[in-house]
Amino acid sequence: MPSIAVVSAGAMGSAVAKRLVSAGCTVYTNLDGRSDAAHQRARDAGMIPVPLPTLVASAHWILSIVPPSEAHAFAEKIRDLVDACAPGPRVFVDCNAVNPDAARRIGALFAGSAVRFVDAGIVGGPPRPGYDPTFYACADEEGVLEEFAAFAQYGLRVSLLQGPGAGVGDASALKLCESVSHSGSSSVAWGSRNHPRRCR
Ligand SMILES: NC(=O)c1ccc[n+]([C@@H]2O[C@H](COP(=O)([O-])OP(=O)(O)OC[C@H]3O[C@@H](n4cnc5c(N)ncnc54)[C@H](OP(=O)(O)O)[C@@H]3O)[C@@H](O)[C@H]2O)c1
Repeated sequence: MPSIAVVSAGAMGSAVAKRLVSAGCTVYTNLDGRSDAAHQRARDAGMIPVPLPTLVASAHWILSIVPPSEAHAFAEKIRDLVDACAPGPRVFVDCNAVNPDAARRIGALFAGSAVRFVDAGIVGGPPRPGYDPTFYACADEEGVLEEFAAFAQYGLRVSLLQGPGAGVGDASALKLCESVSHSGSSSVAWGSRNHPRRCR
């Protein structure tokens, strides 16, 4: 079983964690400064709260599921801890509804580090019994997407965006389009540099 961290324990993060814990995974989180409600959701989901340096040292995967406005700052915090917290995470997955440029900026934080980056967009609501949102995912590096697809074994529905020209930003673009169409707006203002092919 991979060691996984999910930050934070909001509506989505706690439900994703609960799904992973039900599948037998150990799921760490960090609750520094978080509300009583987040602490309660983390307990209910079976998440293990640890200090952030411990989380960075212990988790192979870090799934960032925070308010979109906090996504870059949270990734920066993790990046700043990576060198000091061996062995450190191998993959950072941004699952937030950020725009494609923001996703690329978050990914760029890990360039040159040992941490690989996955841009994911969650389409649908928090998982619950009988219901699965889809994690659309893309990456610039080879191999890491296939590893992420293995989360299907632990109860997450994953759909990879890959093929010629596909890369970081595409999953966020897809999520943005879905949010816009969901909200009933007719204008879609996004500029993906390509049109990813859905492979699974
Ligand atoms: N909910 C959905 O249906 C849904 C669907 C698709 C995608 N998403 C994405 O999932 C992400 C989280 O959404 P959500 O619905 O779970 O939001 P939420 O219920 O508001 O939960 C956000 C959680 O993040 C915590 N938080 C706030 N600032 C933080 C920080 N600086 N560092 C770490 N944690 C922080 C909050 O803690 P406090 O309790 O202390 O405020 C709260 O527990 C968003 O990016 C959203 O776009 C959500």
